[in-house]
Amino acid sequence: MLPAQKAHEPLPNAADAYWLPFTPNRHFRKDPRLVVRAEGMYYFDPAGRRVLDAASGLWCTNAGHTRRPIIEAIQRQAAEMDYAPAFQFAHPKVFELAARLAGLAPKGLDHVFFVNSGSESVETALKIALAYHRARGDAGRVRLIGRERGYHGVGFAGIAVGGIVTNRKFFGTLVAGVDHLPTTYDRAKQAFSRGEPEWGAHLADELERLVALHDASTIAAVIVEPMAGSTGVIPPPQGYLQRLRSICDKHGILLIFDEVITGFGRLGAPFAAERYGVTPDLITFAKGVTNGAVPMGGVIASRGVYEAFMTGPEHVIELFHGYTYSGHPLACAAALATLDLYRDEGLFERAGSMEKVLEDAVHALKGAPFVLDIRNVGMAAAIDLEPIAGMPGKRGYELLQRAFFDQNLMIRIAGDTIAIAPPLIAGEDEIAIAVGGVRKAIDATA
Ligand SMILES: Cc1ncc(COP(=O)(O)O)c(C=O)c1O
Repeated sequence: MLPAQKAHEPLPNAADAYWLPFTPNRHFRKDPRLVVRAEGMYYFDPAGRRVLDAASGLWCTNAGHTRRPIIEAIQRQAAEMDYAPAFQFAHPKVFELAARLAGLAPKGLDHVFFVNSGSESVETALKIALAYHRARGDAGRVRLIGRERGYHGVGFAGIAVGGIVTNRKFFGTLVAGVDHLPTTYDRAKQAFSRGEPEWGAHLADELERLVALHDASTIAAVIVEPMAGSTGVIPPPQGYLQRLRSICDKHGILLIFDEVITGFGRLGAPFAAERYGVTPDLITFAKGVTNGAVPMGGVIASRGVYEAFMTGPEHVIELFHGYTYSGHPLACAAALATLDLYRDEGLFERAGSMEKVLEDAVHALKGAPFVLDIRNVGMAAAIDLEPIAGMPGKRGYELLQRAFFDQNLMIRIAGDTIAIAPPLIAGEDEIAIAVGGVRKAIDATA
């Protein structure tokens, strides 16, 4: 038996206790990629080695790391009021933040429901869509339409409307009544397009086929990422989102834009809805809203959707949904400081003006070993690499390691696709270093 004072000391193999998400755990433990500090565009490993963050953490630190105003806002809020109950009570910052977000969103989207993550924002938006139709006496609208290759987090509804096979196939029958639009990506038609490809708007018409199959009276909502991020940066074909909007309008179907990645400047505008001039009925957001500093997400709803719930006796809850940490004071404080930073530093506009720099840099990788396609939009880009025969994902994973250990570079991978999405503060030099590091890592695997 262990002496009493030893019983609670960490064991030598304490690293085993942590089960890492979306990570090959056994391999990770052999060669851990650890970071202990972050500042601006950089992470630092335990030995003090500086690693360029070409992924904005996980698409969230749009203003760069450990920004003073955000840190100080969180510190002040933690000292003043740590928590306020989210149900039946509220605190002032949550109103202020909702108003700020409504001000950033396209006209007409002006009610904000807070959650704690992108996954929760998706579950919430889908529940709002179902309950909206029911509130209007249209309870037969129960079907949800997603899209192949879509990523909408890891809740059951999110993986059901999502279209990433590995995220779905292990988890049973998911949610019933879901169908999918085809992916907008076709390499044969779009390879090496810069920005939004010219080919593919007609794929929105597939929604008409689904309407013909199920009947519009059974369909509640369509959910898409304006730019499919996690699957490997697939910009929408020119005109596609407009077409989707008009088909939804024609059939009374709600359109949801999942802007968890595209929100807060990634595409050079507060939301992708603005870049494309298409206003959905609901927008989901998370990540960049707090610059990644405190978990937060939410749904921005149109007035029409919100008003549909505001009927019945006033003492009765209109939407039976919410989380203990919805609108958490620390998250609100972080978000308000983050929005100030984005505004004061003009970061959304900056992302727009750097788009061409990133585009030219990544497209220069055409012709490098194994490169099958390169895509870009806003401050996001992806490079598809040829998989190693019989071992899909292995080349991508090797690239991730080589980039981190040999090139001092943090990138994202999706299978054998490399994604680059630097904080919006990135300069030309840092973009060149990031893309140069990717090139060296690719060459080293050849
Ligand atoms: C479009 C989209 N929706 C939802 C999510 C899920 O967000 P979270 O990991 O915060 O649950 C993500 C995460 O990358 C995302 O890209």
